[in-house]
Amino acid sequence: MGMRSNYVNNMIRERCEELQLSDEQLREIMKRLLDNIERGLARDTHAASIVKCFVTYVQDLPNGTERGKFMALDLGGTNFRVLLIELGENMHFDMKSKIFAIPQHIMVGPGKQLFDHIADCLGAFMKEHHIEHECLPLGFTFSFPCVQKGLTKGLLVRWTKGFDCEGVIGQDVVELLEQAISHRNEVTIDVTAILNDTTGTLMSCAWKKHDCRIGLIVGTGSNACYVEKVENAQLFDGDRSKPYVLINTEWGAFGDDGALDFVRTEFDRDIDNNSINPGKQLHEKMISGMYMGELVRLVLVKMTNDKLLFNGQGSDLLFKRGNFFTKYVSEIESDKKGTYASCRQVLEELGLGHATDQDCANVRYVCQVVSTRAAHLASAAVATLINKIQEESVTVGIDGSVYRYHPHFHNLMMDKIATLVTPGLKFDIMLSEDGSGRGAALVAAVAARGHAKTA
Ligand code: GLC
Repeated sequence: MGMRSNYVNNMIRERCEELQLSDEQLREIMKRLLDNIERGLARDTHAASIVKCFVTYVQDLPNGTERGKFMALDLGGTNFRVLLIELGENMHFDMKSKIFAIPQHIMVGPGKQLFDHIADCLGAFMKEHHIEHECLPLGFTFSFPCVQKGLTKGLLVRWTKGFDCEGVIGQDVVELLEQAISHRNEVTIDVTAILNDTTGTLMSCAWKKHDCRIGLIVGTGSNACYVEKVENAQLFDGDRSKPYVLINTEWGAFGDDGALDFVRTEFDRDIDNNSINPGKQLHEKMISGMYMGELVRLVLVKMTNDKLLFNGQGSDLLFKRGNFFTKYVSEIESDKKGTYASCRQVLEELGLGHATDQDCANVRYVCQVVSTRAAHLASAAVATLINKIQEESVTVGIDGSVYRYHPHFHNLMMDKIATLVTPGLKFDIMLSEDGSGRGAALVAAVAARGHAKTA
């Protein structure tokens, strides 16, 4: 497996076996996911399907002629951002942005408070950049499952990733945003598109790579969108004379009906039981950054209690939920072979300064097993889409903190996707810079282009 080190304790290896997925298991997962996607797309099975495959109303990829000045809002990752984007001649691109915190009490407070906060931040940003008197088109990157009723209308289906604001489910979030902005009576904006971060990622990548057909996020959450033939998107009630439409799969929910139970472990069940959305987003909980560190922690706790680690002596910090950050996984795996500087630092922060070299090797092994499983699950899902799209070559635009900061995620995915795709199909994975900003602007711009044409 390339992760063998003489140091790693055999008992630990054995305990980690259930966290390693064979190609056979991955192929079974692919089969089930494809079935879910097809059921999501089809009129008769959509309502009961776990993977929803929402239509996005984005039907054109950028062609490089998009121009103009746009605002974007990005809600749904670790940070909330307001952006000002200019698309100029010769693919010139300029972007100013500001990150605002979303305090925990707002993430789980009343929806009104959330949208008021967003409107406040938008107003402050526009004043700071002296554009408070302009009425700019705005793309709203809202990265939660929404039923879209058009490019500017999205009804929230469920909160994910630690958000749980009352009074928003079933509502049109564009309307909630517009109301909050107009109540404030400070700035005016024109919301021209609501989009998912995966859509932004795809568009941003497609701006440069014309064979980009998939937008993938492996960050706080995990999800993908892809280019589907309109004839397959049975529920699409937009322009059916155009050949394609982007589909937001919302595959984070895959497994919520038990489809992944054959590979889920006691650690996955623990994560789920202690989350704010038990029973929901089970695929996402095995992959994304919101849960990866905690998964590692749970494995470490179990092994400590079984006296396989730290001489059986844990620490209060290790035993407390949420204390093992996902960034630790990336840091620990970034140490050069046979060295443990970052690992030691993390363990010290956790009050485990008494760790031996053998402990460090074991801890790193656990990190590798958990992150590799995430990469393999993401790969199986991507390979499912590549095989479904069946084009000769496909670029996958990807973003998200796990992909960006984990030292081996890219290579793990390249290798595993190559194993799982239909022989003959070529693919590449490319970091898609700033899908939520540039991508949002591009969706707004492409929409404007469409209007100009039909006008
Ligand atoms: C969650 C959201 C989804 C988003 C993903 C990545 O799965 O439901 O809409 O794309 O996280 O941010």
